[in-house]
Amino acid sequence: MKLSITVLVMLFAVMPVPATAEVTPGQARDLFDQMCAGCHGFRGDGGEGHRGGFSPHVGTLADKEYMAQVPDEYIYLIIAKGGAFMGKIATMPAWEKRLSEDQMQALVKHIRTFTQ
Ligand code: HEC
Repeated sequence: MKLSITVLVMLFAVMPVPATAEVTPGQARDLFDQMCAGCHGFRGDGGEGHRGGFSPHVGTLADKEYMAQVPDEYIYLIIAKGGAFMGKIATMPAWEKRLSEDQMQALVKHIRTFTQ
């Protein structure tokens, strides 16, 4: 009995901690700047922040007309599942294995600030 409790405690210790804490707007911006700006630019316009080289310049996130047409659900899905899943260019990676749901929701909100 004593052993199994020890084993249980060890299991809990290695289990990933669920992301319960809200992701703040500042954290969402940092995430975007680090993981997304290389292709999308800091302001989503494919400009400043772009890493150059072979990364595509993607300006759609700052395109008011386009962004007004797409619902949050679409933005969330393409972040989670990647471009190919949504019938777009596969260069847009799928992020669901690397980011938590909260992080991806916060990124949707951050992306909305580009067209405000
Ligand atoms: C390696 C380059 C690259 C990176 C890094 C990248 N994207 Fe993309 N993303 C793309 C490309 C290319 C498209 C456009 C696909 C198309 O238009 O067919 C795209 C499209 C999108 C779209 C849909 C906009 C549209 O045109 O419909 C969203 C939303 C998006 N990306 C969010 C993100 C977020 C959030 C991150 C970071 C977590 C990220 N992207 C990282 C390349 C990238």
